[in-house]
Amino acid sequence: MNELDFDHFCRMIRERSGLVLTPDKAYLVSSRLEPLARSEKLADVAALLSQLRKGAPEALIQQCVDALATHESYFFRDGAPFEQFASTVLPALLQARQSTRTLRVWCAACSSGQEVYSVAMILQELGHRLSGWKVEVLGTDMSQPILSKARAGLYSDFEVKRGLSEARLNRWFKAEGPVWKVSPVLQEMVQFRTHNLLRGSAGLGTFDVIFCRNVLIYFDVENKRRILEGIGSALAPDGALILGSAETVLGVTRAFENMPGARGIYRPTPDPIARSA
Ligand SMILES: C[S@@+](CC[C@H](N)C(=O)[O-])C[C@H]1O[C@@H](n2cnc3c(N)ncnc32)[C@H](O)[C@@H]1O
Repeated sequence: MNELDFDHFCRMIRERSGLVLTPDKAYLVSSRLEPLARSEKLADVAALLSQLRKGAPEALIQQCVDALATHESYFFRDGAPFEQFASTVLPALLQARQSTRTLRVWCAACSSGQEVYSVAMILQELGHRLSGWKVEVLGTDMSQPILSKARAGLYSDFEVKRGLSEARLNRWFKAEGPVWKVSPVLQEMVQFRTHNLLRGSAGLGTFDVIFCRNVLIYFDVENKRRILEGIGSALAPDGALILGSAETVLGVTRAFENMPGARGIYRPTPDPIARSA
């Protein structure tokens, strides 16, 4: 692999997605891009990187970005954040939003939709407590192919066995041949949109809860700060930010502080002096 081509490729991926690739990731680049090089009828990955440096169509660049992204996801991933969402975050919001009766949840970098449908299941399971409420769950990701899968709401046997209880599988999914289809009730509650976290959050509106899980781990501190502060501007002052178990705001930004008694859940820092310090 030509060093200049590889450096150019790493810069291009970082600028477009935030993903940081270092020279020790050459094997990863090779294995992820090999199918693309083949489908482009190029001799190998080195030829693909060389073509990208000379100038390539936007669609091919986007395919590379998608190929390098990790789309791993599963239902109720890590358990605890969803339990805390249901037991701590939601009850407080249901009380605080009694007058407007609206609730907006954003799953940023939602991949194939399992996180979004997990949130929708928790909300639907509140039953009559949400009747008369306007509830929206928005899932966004930079990858269009993965969002198509999320929208379809079709999951394999393997995928539904990762994180879903038997009771939830039977209640919210229907077997369709070899796959499982998400119930229309859940699908009606959710929306999916293409969105790159590096572009901020303008145009998405204000949310009461934002899940941003298992994506910041791939970024450098500068992009983590940029993304967290972008997310912060879309979060209600009494809203909650839920990060992945290996992610934190500590040492990145003061825009958020820990929510007392809830590990991995943050709220906007109320004091503007503390925010900018
Ligand atoms: C590992 S998945 C996490 C899925 C889900 N949040 C979870 O925790 O199971 C990471 C997702 O982040 C998306 N992603 C990576 N960089 C992004 C960016 N700059 N903007 C939006 N999505 C991004 C990828 O396409 C991928 O689907």
